[in-house]
Amino acid sequence: MKTGRFITLEGGEGSGKSTQGRLLAEALRADGHEVLLTREPGGTPGAEAIRSLLVTGDPDRWTPWSDALLMTAARVDHVARVIRPALERGATVICDRFIDSTRAYQGAGRGLEDAALIDLHNEAVCLWPDLTLVLLLDEAEGLARAAARGGAEARFEAIGGDFHARVQEFFVALPKAEPDRCKAVNAGGSIDDVAVRIRDALC
Ligand code: TMP
Repeated sequence: MKTGRFITLEGGEGSGKSTQGRLLAEALRADGHEVLLTREPGGTPGAEAIRSLLVTGDPDRWTPWSDALLMTAARVDHVARVIRPALERGATVICDRFIDSTRAYQGAGRGLEDAALIDLHNEAVCLWPDLTLVLLLDEAEGLARAAARGGAEARFEAIGGDFHARVQEFFVALPKAEPDRCKAVNAGGSIDDVAVRIRDALC
């Protein structure tokens, strides 16, 4: 039976989720909690192998449904082998991206129906976060930060047109549509300022 708290961090490119996940994990550990910090796509050897198929290469490498199914395949492995066991032993799990990224990128961004993605998630994964913190930063600023970071994992960053605007729109709307689970966090300003906002959102 699940007893730990499952927290996910969501947001567009360059919104600072990874840094903030690390800081939150450190703060909760300092308070005496067992914390598992993990990420998607990834978090197990199998899911990391799937990640490398997803985040590198040409933007058109996969169709929207191929992306959604690969993301879900990675998520099923991650939840079964890592996330659920950690929650069952009472750990707090912090995950950098989860189902809401699929809804944002493959749903709002690439046109798949939200209800179909939710049905797939309920069928195959069947685990929802207790709390989702949505880091909101102007999408142009986020993309510039992500571009400055560089690296090979830029497949989704490279999608043009208004793709990232649609992703951002989904993330802006999510805390308003699902306020019991999702909270918006202003991701602008210094790393320390954002960390304080995140700790406040946890209360
Ligand atoms: P990251 O850069 O935050 O590690 O995420 C990797 C990329 O994968 C990012 O561009 C968003 C994308 N992604 C999706 O498109 N759908 C998903 O379900 C997940 C988890 C990530």
